[in-house]
Amino acid sequence: MIIALNNKSNLNKGEFINYLSQLNKIATKHKIILCPTFLNIPRANIENKNYLLGAQNVSSNSSGAFTGEISAEQLKEENVKYCIVGHSERRLFQKESLEEISSKIKKLQEQNIIPILCIGETKEEKEANKTIDVIKREILSAIEDQKNIEEIILAYEPIWAIGTGVIPKNEEIKKVISEIKKILPSNKVLYGGSCNENNIEELNKVTEIDGYLLGGISLKTNSLQELLLKCN
Ligand code: PGA
Repeated sequence: MIIALNNKSNLNKGEFINYLSQLNKIATKHKIILCPTFLNIPRANIENKNYLLGAQNVSSNSSGAFTGEISAEQLKEENVKYCIVGHSERRLFQKESLEEISSKIKKLQEQNIIPILCIGETKEEKEANKTIDVIKREILSAIEDQKNIEEIILAYEPIWAIGTGVIPKNEEIKKVISEIKKILPSNKVLYGGSCNENNIEELNKVTEIDGYLLGGISLKTNSLQELLLKCN
C-alpha cells in the first residue's frame, strides 16, 4: 500500500531529527511517502531511508518574482518525488483555486514529481448529497489538459473527517472511490481523514483503497508502526 505522511506545520528542528530516527527504524513493506515542512525536507534527504520524500505544496509558477513560493524544480533538487496538491486546508485557508491546483499539477509533472491530489466534500455538501458532484468537479478541473494523468495519485479526504476523529462508513468510502475509479480507472486512490491504529482494520475492508494519507498519526511513530502492521 501507499502510506503518505502529512506532517503539516508540525515538528521543529530538534523534534524532527528525533522523529526521523524513530521513523527510520520502522520496518515495513509499504511504500512510505514522508511529506515534512519545506525546511525539514533537506533534513530528511538522507541515505538509507525507509521512505520517499514528498512535499505538502508547490508554487503554481516556475521560478521568478513570486515571493514566498517554492518551485517544482527546487523541490526536485531536494530529491522530492511526490507532492500533495489541493489539500483542503490550502483550499480553505489559502483560498487555492481550481485553476491554481491545475497549474501546480502541471509544474510538478514537468519535473517528474508525482502529484497527490486531495479531493473531498464539506459536511454541508455531504448533507446536501453533493459529494459525487464535488469530487467530479475537483478531479475534472485538475486533470484537464494534463499529460500522464494515470500517474496522479488521488486522495479522497472528506473535509469533515480531517482531524475530527469521525470517519465515513465503509460503504460511503467504497461508493466515492468507485466513482473516482470510473473517471480514472488506472489511478491509485488513497483515503485520508482521522485514520488511526484502531480504525485501520475496518478501513482495510474497503478493497478499493490503495493506501492512506495520514495527518495526526504521522507524528506518533508508535501508533504509526501499529497501523502499518495492520495494513495488508
Ligand atoms: P488527519 O489528517 O489524519 O489528522 O485527519 C489527514 C490530512 O489532513 O491529510
